[in-house]
Amino acid sequence: MANKQQVVIWDVRCSFHSLIALLVLGLVGGAVYLTAQSGQQLLEDDHDDTTSTTKSTTTPSPTTNNDHSSPKCNLFSGKWVFDNKSYPLYKEKQCTFMSDQVACEKFGRMDRTYQNWRWQPHQCDLPRFNATALLEKLRNKRLVFVGDSLNRGQWVSMVCLLETSMPSSSPKSMINHGGNLIYFKAKEYNASIEFYWAPLLVESNSDDPVIHRLPDRIVRAQSIEKHARHWTDADILVFNTYLWWKRPRMKILWGSFEQSDGIYKYVEMLRSYEMALKTWADWLEIHVNRTKTQLFFMSMSPTHERAEEWGKATGENCYTETEIIEKKNYWGNASDSKMMRVVEEAIKEVGKRGLNVQMINITQLSEYRKEGHPSIYRKQWDPLTREQLANPAVYADCIHWCLPGVPDVWNELLYAYIFNRSSFRHNSF
Ligand SMILES: *[C@@H]1O[C@H](CO)[C@@H](O)[C@H](O)[C@H]1NC(C)=O
Ligand SMILES: *[C@@H]1O[C@H](CO)[C@@H](O)[C@H](O)[C@H]1NC(C)=O
Ligand SMILES: *[C@@H]1O[C@H](CO)[C@@H](O)[C@H](O)[C@H]1NC(C)=O
Ligand SMILES: *[C@@H]1O[C@H](CO)[C@@H](O)[C@H](O)[C@H]1NC(C)=O
Ligand SMILES: *[C@@H]1O[C@H](CO)[C@@H](O)[C@H](O)[C@H]1NC(C)=O
Ligand SMILES: *[C@@H]1O[C@H](CO)[C@@H](O)[C@H](O)[C@H]1NC(C)=O
Ligand SMILES: *[C@@H]1O[C@H](CO)[C@@H](O)[C@H](O)[C@H]1NC(C)=O
Repeated sequence: MANKQQVVIWDVRCSFHSLIALLVLGLVGGAVYLTAQSGQQLLEDDHDDTTSTTKSTTTPSPTTNNDHSSPKCNLFSGKWVFDNKSYPLYKEKQCTFMSDQVACEKFGRMDRTYQNWRWQPHQCDLPRFNATALLEKLRNKRLVFVGDSLNRGQWVSMVCLLETSMPSSSPKSMINHGGNLIYFKAKEYNASIEFYWAPLLVESNSDDPVIHRLPDRIVRAQSIEKHARHWTDADILVFNTYLWWKRPRMKILWGSFEQSDGIYKYVEMLRSYEMALKTWADWLEIHVNRTKTQLFFMSMSPTHERAEEWGKATGENCYTETEIIEKKNYWGNASDSKMMRVVEEAIKEVGKRGLNVQMINITQLSEYRKEGHPSIYRKQWDPLTREQLANPAVYADCIHWCLPGVPDVWNELLYAYIFNRSSFRHNSF
């Protein structure tokens, strides 16, 4: 069941109407345009992962490393500062395992300043990302990112950050057996940096890492063990799940996909999200060794699909954007703060049961970065039509992020918490 075609109806007030999906990737693969309540989603998927070795270079780094001791600092409140001396932290071409989904230079992007922004918290500096220190920390350990294609982008960023600063002689490999788990190994450290595909965290009919474009999305909101067994014993876990939920309601299954006696019911989205996160939280509470495992949850990654939100013409989007949004506290309509609150509640709830999950609050800071998306500069899985060529905005990807770019900063934040969680103020829920 390789190439499947499907038609998705847009409920969007945007330009396009319907759209086919799918195509290829080696043998199978897919790209799809989905719709959601507010704007279309292009949560395509691809696997251009390789299995090989080598690459080198040193990584310079940002700000000075000082006084993030006391008073405790909120790293998520700050501003972007143009800094083409320290950024990017690595070069796109130097990263052996760069993904074609986010390799914007390779696919023709000419402006480069999206690579040059440093995040400056108001109250302190971010610690310098030291790849060697992180690899030492990960010796004989597993760092696993679990979630959707946004989380996969962050994982690619992490691999690039580590890999480009390893000596070229240092053995490394990327292992992808076509399953949900892909991993990068830094052999001298026996460190494993992994990505596990589970776009809704709980089980769903979108769990196939390649073929997951189904018009009728079905979620088993009570079941996570099929996924969780693969990462429960990791040393550091980084979760996300958001965009795949953005529809008015979800079809929930009680029972299994294999048996015919399951009970299906449509449940309002927010409630479904809550159910799934409860399942996730309950699993963690029972199965995670809290003295061993550090837990993180990445907050919503914002999209920039409706340029009227930042004062441009209706029908435009992130295409052609080269500058950041300067407006303080800018917040796009597509970012659902109710969903963020559900995540906070779930984290708070497990917190009461003695399990510490740190939210990495990237939403606000990423909101400013309308120029950070691949737009049209990424691999296209389908040949472009004449209509698309005539109006490139219609196929621009305003969801994912170019690398080097915004997800590198997410990883710098993650880094800060991995090393020094006690030095920073916890979110005051
Ligand atoms: C962690 O924070 C302490 C101060 O609390 C600082 O001295 C140290 O350099 C920090 N370590 C890292 C890796 O940032
Ligand atoms: C995330 O950070 C922004 C900026 O500091 C803040 O306004 C927002 O309340 C934070 N949200 C959470 C859930 O911590
Ligand atoms: C950095 O940016 C400044 C100001 O835009 C520019 O004059 C300079 O040439 C840039 N340097 C590099 C190395 O790109
Ligand atoms: C990075 O970390 C390593 C190992 O902890 C340390 O030896 C090195 O001095 C650090 N480099 C910088 C630039 O801080
Ligand atoms: C290598 O790392 C794995 C975790 O990824 C660990 O289970 C294993 O014990 C490590 N091997 C050695 C020799 O320490
Ligand atoms: C939890 O992890 C710690 C540190 O790795 C280990 O010493 C302990 O035995 C583990 N506990 C259980 C119940 O596995
Ligand atoms: C964004 O949402 C606000 C509040 O719901 C609404 O007033 C505004 O018109 C929306 N803006 C756009 C561009 O949709």
